[in-house]
Amino acid sequence: MSGNVTLKSEMPAVTASGLDNVVAAETALSHVDGEAGRLIVAGYDVEELVKAHDFEGAVAALWAAAGLEPAPSAAEIRNALGRAREAAFGYIPALLSSKRHETVTEGLRTGLSMLADEPGEDAADRDIPAHIRAPVSALGAAAVITAALVRAEAGKSPVAPDRHAGHAEDFIRILRDEAPAAAEVEALNAYMVTVADHGMNASTFTARVIASTKAGTISAVVGALCALKGPLHGGAPGPVLDMLDEIGTRENIEPWLERKIAGGARLMGFGHRVYRVRDPRADVFNKAVTILTNGNERVRFAREVELAALKALRAAKPGHRIDTNMEYYTAVLLEALGIPRDAVTSVFAMARIAGWTAHVMEQERVGRLIRPQSRYVGHWPEGEAAA
Ligand code: SDX
Repeated sequence: MSGNVTLKSEMPAVTASGLDNVVAAETALSHVDGEAGRLIVAGYDVEELVKAHDFEGAVAALWAAAGLEPAPSAAEIRNALGRAREAAFGYIPALLSSKRHETVTEGLRTGLSMLADEPGEDAADRDIPAHIRAPVSALGAAAVITAALVRAEAGKSPVAPDRHAGHAEDFIRILRDEAPAAAEVEALNAYMVTVADHGMNASTFTARVIASTKAGTISAVVGALCALKGPLHGGAPGPVLDMLDEIGTRENIEPWLERKIAGGARLMGFGHRVYRVRDPRADVFNKAVTILTNGNERVRFAREVELAALKALRAAKPGHRIDTNMEYYTAVLLEALGIPRDAVTSVFAMARIAGWTAHVMEQERVGRLIRPQSRYVGHWPEGEAAA
């Protein structure tokens, strides 16, 4: 039966819930206390996790908390990551020749899609233990792809990874083609450990939904990256730096903020769905970048803009508790490490793949297909009253 579909005139009243305060899963991986401004990751306060572990150690802690068996040690993960970086380097030429992307994040999305959910035994990463091959391949590839894409944008050829190096150290080296200072490696490790996992944020929830269909680790990571890309989530740091540049001088701080807020703009780096106080990670990054730069002018200016922004937001939005989130000082820290604006979201993903893969492991171990309900508010067939 064909006939024309009658297009209804009035727009149905559809509202977006945002799933505020809905508990979508139980997890042993991380806990975000939005009222207290506290983050616990794999049993550690995040400030303690940063002191206790480098990125490989944080990955080991998360995967153990996810129930992975046998749970690899930090040393085993360091070794496997080195092999994964080497394997990934093998398909960088194919990725760069495709040039189907406009941004580094889109290039990372394409590059990760080249990985198999079930890597074969003939794969270049066959030396990696089979039960961690997919998650380690994603972690290793994300670093190698990001560095190669940044260098390609600058007209430079990719630099081969060193499988014996630490992950953060090797990433900076293949990004710059020179060895990083110890303080830079320490700062990047602090960043990557701190952002590795953060409760049921949009990209992690995406990873769990995809994992719940048994689609596989790489598919879950690619989907999560697509969610992270958005400026309301992981795409905020670049615009934070744009804001600092646009403001430019101390005299322009308040006029610029007032004009933007009055125009309905959202200030990147502020506000959070869960934190009603300052995001504890902001202090971790502020401390790291202050040590790294010895509190240079950029850091001092960022702090002045932050204080003015908080004051302006509290005046403009008295009904909402809007505080500094992690992205504000992420932007200043990664800029100080020489990571270009366009690559900041990819570096965030490089670290968050640790959490996404841990949630995939947990979901696959204990979860069911994630399939919530919806309430239909559309039109009903002629003659039928809305339910
Ligand atoms: C991350 O969830 C996680 O854990 C995420 C994350 C992680 O580790 O994975 O922590 C990482 O994504 C941090 C957030 C990065 N995003 C930004 O910095 C973008 C700017 N911030 C926002 O757009 C906003 O704060 C959200 C999206 C992060 C959260 O917003 P909510 O909880 O959905 O709040 P809302 O959009 O309902 O806003 C409530 C009110 C609104 O005002 P009214 O329309 O009611 O008048 O607060 C206002 C908003 O306009 N508001 C802001 C604002 N954030 C909220 N106004 C100006 N600037 C802002 N930054």
